[in-house]
Amino acid sequence: MSASTPNGKINVLFVCLGNICRSPMAEAVFRELVDKSQLRDRFEIQSAGTGSWHAGERPHRGTREVLSRHGIDPNGLIARQVSQDMLDHADYVVVMDSENLSDLRSWQIDQSKVSRLLDYAADINVRDVPDPYYDGRFELVYELSRLGSQGLLKHIREQHAL
Ligand code: 4NP
Repeated sequence: MSASTPNGKINVLFVCLGNICRSPMAEAVFRELVDKSQLRDRFEIQSAGTGSWHAGERPHRGTREVLSRHGIDPNGLIARQVSQDMLDHADYVVVMDSENLSDLRSWQIDQSKVSRLLDYAADINVRDVPDPYYDGRFELVYELSRLGSQGLLKHIREQHAL
């Protein structure tokens, strides 16, 4: 499989509902993993929300605190709503839960590039990352993001022979 971005980078887009809790967490955790694997220049990593309510905001305080506690800088993440252009240019659209999956069905998108983050976490049997906006479990979201990101990077490395 080849990258579709004009600059030849592999474009990974994480999607949740508000783009302030889960998808910025996954974006930051995945980027950290890519950096540690010395693959930064091969990737373009972004996140977005299916909703627009929080566009322009920094991540939720819970996401920022958990990222900082794990040594990941939460600065520079700004919420935005997903766009057709972002979906067209992404090689991997990685959503957080089944509601995000069904919300994306109203967009024009090649479904074969859409997956859930926890599809890549082989050792656990949940497939949806629970929304911490309602239950405050940001540490759980971090742990699930780490597990999913490890599996996702392994999958991409295999597909692209990286
Ligand atoms: P996220 O969490 O989708 O993980 O960013 C939410 C953020 C905001 C809202 C819901 C979920 N909201 O209803 O405003």
